[in-house]
Amino acid sequence: MMFLMPAGVFAAPADSPRERISLDANWRFIKGDAPEGGTNLNYAVIRNWILPTANPFTTNAPAARPEGEPATGISFAQPGFNDSQWRLLNLPHDFGIEGPFDQALPGGTGRLPWFGVAWYRKHLDIPATDAGKTIYLDVDGAMAYATVWVNGKFAGGWPYGYASWRVELTPYLNFGGENVVAIRLDNPPDSSRWYPGGGIYRNVWLVKTAPVHVAHWGTYVTTPEVSAKAATVKIQVNVDNDADAAATVTVKNEIFELNSDGTKSKRALASTAPPEPKFTIPDIKTIIPAGKMRDFADTVEIPNPKRWSLEKPQRYVVVTSIQQDGKLADRYETPFGIRTIEFTTTNGFLLNGKRVPLNGVCDHSDLGALGSAINTRGLERQVEILKSFGCNAIRTSHNPPSPELLDICDRLGMLVMDESFDCWESGKTRNDYHLLFDDWHERDWRAELRRDRNHPSIILWSIGNEVGEQGRPNKFWIPVELTAIAHQEDPTRPTTSANSDYNAGFNGFAKNEDVFGYNYKPTDYGRFRVANPIQPLFGSETASCVSSRGEYFFPVSENKAGGRSNNQVSSYDLYAPPWATPPDTEFTGQDKYPFVAGEFVWTGFDYLGEPTPYGGRNDPARSSYFGIVDLAGFPKDRYYIYQARWRPDFPMAHILPHWNWPDRAGQVTPVHVYTSGDSAELFLNGKSLGLKKKGPLEYRLEWNDVNYAPGTLKVVAYKNGKQWATDVMKTTGPAAKLTLQADRSKIADDGQDLSFVTVTVADKDGLLVPRSKNHIKFEIEGPGEIVATDNGDATSFESFQAPEHNAYNGLALVIVRAKAGQPGAITLKAESNGLKPATIRITDK
Ligand code: GAL
Repeated sequence: MMFLMPAGVFAAPADSPRERISLDANWRFIKGDAPEGGTNLNYAVIRNWILPTANPFTTNAPAARPEGEPATGISFAQPGFNDSQWRLLNLPHDFGIEGPFDQALPGGTGRLPWFGVAWYRKHLDIPATDAGKTIYLDVDGAMAYATVWVNGKFAGGWPYGYASWRVELTPYLNFGGENVVAIRLDNPPDSSRWYPGGGIYRNVWLVKTAPVHVAHWGTYVTTPEVSAKAATVKIQVNVDNDADAAATVTVKNEIFELNSDGTKSKRALASTAPPEPKFTIPDIKTIIPAGKMRDFADTVEIPNPKRWSLEKPQRYVVVTSIQQDGKLADRYETPFGIRTIEFTTTNGFLLNGKRVPLNGVCDHSDLGALGSAINTRGLERQVEILKSFGCNAIRTSHNPPSPELLDICDRLGMLVMDESFDCWESGKTRNDYHLLFDDWHERDWRAELRRDRNHPSIILWSIGNEVGEQGRPNKFWIPVELTAIAHQEDPTRPTTSANSDYNAGFNGFAKNEDVFGYNYKPTDYGRFRVANPIQPLFGSETASCVSSRGEYFFPVSENKAGGRSNNQVSSYDLYAPPWATPPDTEFTGQDKYPFVAGEFVWTGFDYLGEPTPYGGRNDPARSSYFGIVDLAGFPKDRYYIYQARWRPDFPMAHILPHWNWPDRAGQVTPVHVYTSGDSAELFLNGKSLGLKKKGPLEYRLEWNDVNYAPGTLKVVAYKNGKQWATDVMKTTGPAAKLTLQADRSKIADDGQDLSFVTVTVADKDGLLVPRSKNHIKFEIEGPGEIVATDNGDATSFESFQAPEHNAYNGLALVIVRAKAGQPGAITLKAESNGLKPATIRITDK
């Protein structure tokens, strides 16, 4: 039995007086409002009560909490309220994903019921021995307009659903007894262009500290000078003294190497403490007056630093200890990395001085069938899949990501463009962030920067996506202000934004950020460079090609508006909405203008909502067609065109379409091949259909006049005259059996870890049978549960929670979790009428 280390544990090591306790278990939940809620609690009423929650993140005068309570007699907030009939559940929780899908709900947000008011209540014992401590509730994310009551008293809140935030509980707590934390969420309809989910969808923590402690996100580690020989590490620490008396404190910092599993090296690399520190960081001693915060700064040199890179993402950790009167008051850990980043005008992006093309994807934060409820393994699997086709960067479109995603990117070696907002003052939907922008943009932005700035994976701060202000010079103070805030909080990284308006590159808008991002402008990079000779440039959003895994429509149209049938899009990777392009067009732009730093494809994974081109009211679709990988995590053909380009040294070739076309005998059935080679020969049933070579600015090989005959297509790819890779596509027999394959057959029984099991509808030889849609039922034995099922079909309205699912073009997915603390083998069985069933064993580790 093993427990997964919850992400974010770094902030409080075991020997620290600080405790950081997961508060995810056993919340009571109800969808709907208290009878006394409604307009009594809308934003206009609570505004002045929640603004003070964000006081550490504004440079304006801190907001003062009004006297008394914002509303009295809210029954759901009262400690004595009987919530025993409410549903008992664990966080992270997304109530929207439970559905059901409803054609009457907007396609743009996935036809799911993610909006409305919901309440969560947690009964919490606080021991008498905690008296004198400072106690906080840390919420990594709650969608949206969260307000918190503790024992019936209003404690604070935060409206932006993607923000992480903290509310202090201390003044309201009953030490030595039961306490009730009640959280109300009010998720407005029409507040998003994609599926945002609803609920407390990220982790929640109870943090207990001594009165003298490291402030919220109170450390900032930078590496002002880095070379192969030495790195200067600067450590800044903010320490709060919540006590009534001044405190004499000593701050010590030590640096350790982090192993890839997150454990520390045995010895500190730099420390004030014995034994034998190689390099000494001086202790700092100071007096902090009662109720005040003080900053401390240390600088140390580390010889021969192991620099963080994509291939070897070496991390270090600063351990900060605060002594008060000779006693340890706090110990706090800050992982960081040592690397240099630079955006150039002539040579793109440099990591540690070497050019790294940004082979990036944009992704929304949902996890497909798991909805927006974050799961560390679900995120890690996504990053692993992205890396497998050579993706090296993620844009967290269009909002702050979960902290766990950033930890994973640090650990696995993935670059991040960390984004803030989808709009500023000018909204895109009736109830989106434009309603909050004036009150909250500084607070949200500083909070995001301070939370995230120690992550070596982050290379860009994005101040916004396709904001309406791109063409309005009288609003250019906004990018000026957002960039200034980013530079104050973190001068080590450039700002950028993602711009859809061609003019933004020429009307003065671009000058207000450090690096310019163009969305869907692969033919304009040259013009931008002429007008802006000293500003680095990259493709902040590219392609938006649409396709459905395993669908091919004939005749193959070269018109990008074509390729549509039956609410699906043909997978020849030629189709895109009017503003968008096939992948090849962007590759051409990147290759013609090599000063461009790279691209972020829209999107890595399909996501819930925005089912373009089937987003109309009556279109039966609920998730996107943009992904390189489908919603279930299965590669589409496009996966291979990116792999061919982004992993040029990885020998691969990929044939499309599948070769089961009984009704097309003798008809022209074009064959396309993606390969990291430079040429390839195609064979049908052993007969050569010719050798083709990639010409300049060509990214796929096409045999467009192949007459279909059942049998075997084989491609042999060459590189520099040598055989490089092969691929085979065979006509299969009828569906005969199911096969199961787990991404991991050993998982931790911590109630969080997951195994993703791929179900294949196969012929008797085990080949995936294209176009098979068999209905499959799943059963589990042993201490496990089926968390979700899916098949990647954007038109499926089947429940994600049901233990059954149709296959979509030969594949389905089952997500299995081991029950917390229950070791033992789990057996998953899959059955479908007329097919040989399959079982798989998953054991605990
Ligand atoms: C962009 C937008 C994205 C997404 C995409 C679809 O304009 O920034 O959020 O909507 O279009 O192609």
